[in-house]
Amino acid sequence: MRGLLTAALAVVLLASTAPALEPPTFSEHVAPILQQRCQTCHRPGEHAPFSLLTYRDVYQRRDDIRDAVQGRAMPPWKPVPGFGDFLGSRRLSETELTTLVRWVAAGAPEGDPAKLPPPVVFPKGWTLGAPDHVLEMAETYTVPARAGDVYRCFVIPTNFPEDRWVTKAEYAPGDRKLVHHILSYIDTTGAAERLDHGEPGLGYTCFGGPGFASAGGLSGWAPGIRPRVLEDGVGMLLPKGANVVLQMHYHNSGPTTRSDRTRMALHFATGPIDKRQRSIPILNRTFTIPPGERRHEVRASWTVPFGRDLHANAISPHMHLLGRAMTVTATYPDGTVRPLIHIDDWDFNWQGAYMFAKPVPLPQNTRIDMVAVFDNSAENPRQPNRPPRPVSWGDGTTDEMAIVFLSVTFDAERIGWKPSR
Ligand code: HEC
Repeated sequence: MRGLLTAALAVVLLASTAPALEPPTFSEHVAPILQQRCQTCHRPGEHAPFSLLTYRDVYQRRDDIRDAVQGRAMPPWKPVPGFGDFLGSRRLSETELTTLVRWVAAGAPEGDPAKLPPPVVFPKGWTLGAPDHVLEMAETYTVPARAGDVYRCFVIPTNFPEDRWVTKAEYAPGDRKLVHHILSYIDTTGAAERLDHGEPGLGYTCFGGPGFASAGGLSGWAPGIRPRVLEDGVGMLLPKGANVVLQMHYHNSGPTTRSDRTRMALHFATGPIDKRQRSIPILNRTFTIPPGERRHEVRASWTVPFGRDLHANAISPHMHLLGRAMTVTATYPDGTVRPLIHIDDWDFNWQGAYMFAKPVPLPQNTRIDMVAVFDNSAENPRQPNRPPRPVSWGDGTTDEMAIVFLSVTFDAERIGWKPSR
């Protein structure tokens, strides 16, 4: 028995070490990984600072690539595996990671160019097909050379004579080198227009939130993100007469001015809508993070009300620059704890909505717990206050927030809306 096992083990070992004799080559092994995992962002005209299309591009950067993938800085994907199961994960598999690392260690050989996969054809224009309506910034907005990070909100009127149900939303950043990420908010109060008029130039300054209590959002955009498509029968309500506010994070460290005029495509429901997509914020607004504190925890909890069974389809943690980690769990009435998301290396620049692979049931009396961790020490490289000062809730770059938004539907909801056509 033992001998058999050893023999089996030897076969397994042989099988797994055999490819080590032949180092991976760019053409055969590395290019397919880069096509799938890197080129969505690393190609001309996209946000990433350099292309990873050709052997030359990649060979020049091989050491940086090894470091970035080994440290899991690239591809950018923040949720820690094992806590929540998400669509569109960008995390490299162990095989992909070791292939890249072994390739660099072997001197980054090109191999036979005849074995290169055909180049990926990236879609131009709207990927979801012709939209029902396009919202566009009123004018082009110009960001000066070397402006660094610019956070600005732009108000776009919709002027629809009736409520609309949006089932798909897609963004077209005007200048993909300039746009770092986009969040959208719906305003039914006129507050955004007042903020816009209160500041010269198109739009108004906004960082952590839009500066008013929003009536929901229409998803967002970040490099490499897939457009949001809701499940059948679920819609995002765009009330008649509402304004849509695009919160843009621009980044321009280059020597020239750049300008942007972002557009957004809306697709309206073509079938019946039974459930409204809602956003539940779970937050703590009453904290103060003491200066010098390296790991300051801020907690919030929320219990699903009696009689209101929910399903959550996406989760969006939100903190500012001092945020370091966030953990969100659901504790079911029977005591079972289900992790919803855990981010252990928060980066304000890579935030977004993470869509659950399958909607997560949250029956009545389930408790959602959020733990946000902040680093308010002088050693935090993202520390915006020199020297550190006590930091509390607020909209600004030097304030903080501790929120997680859950995108949910109510199980019992039956709106019964039908398209008129
Ligand atoms: C979702 C977009 C996106 C994807 C996918 C992506 N990158 Fe990046 N990459 C960026 C951006 C943007 C930067 C600039 C730094 C930043 O903003 O974090 C960057 C920077 C880098 C850097 C510079 C060093 C660093 O860590 O900042 C390397 C090396 C790199 N990427 C390699 C890769 C490789 C290899 C892959 C695929 C395995 C990949 N990237 C996938 C967007 C992406």
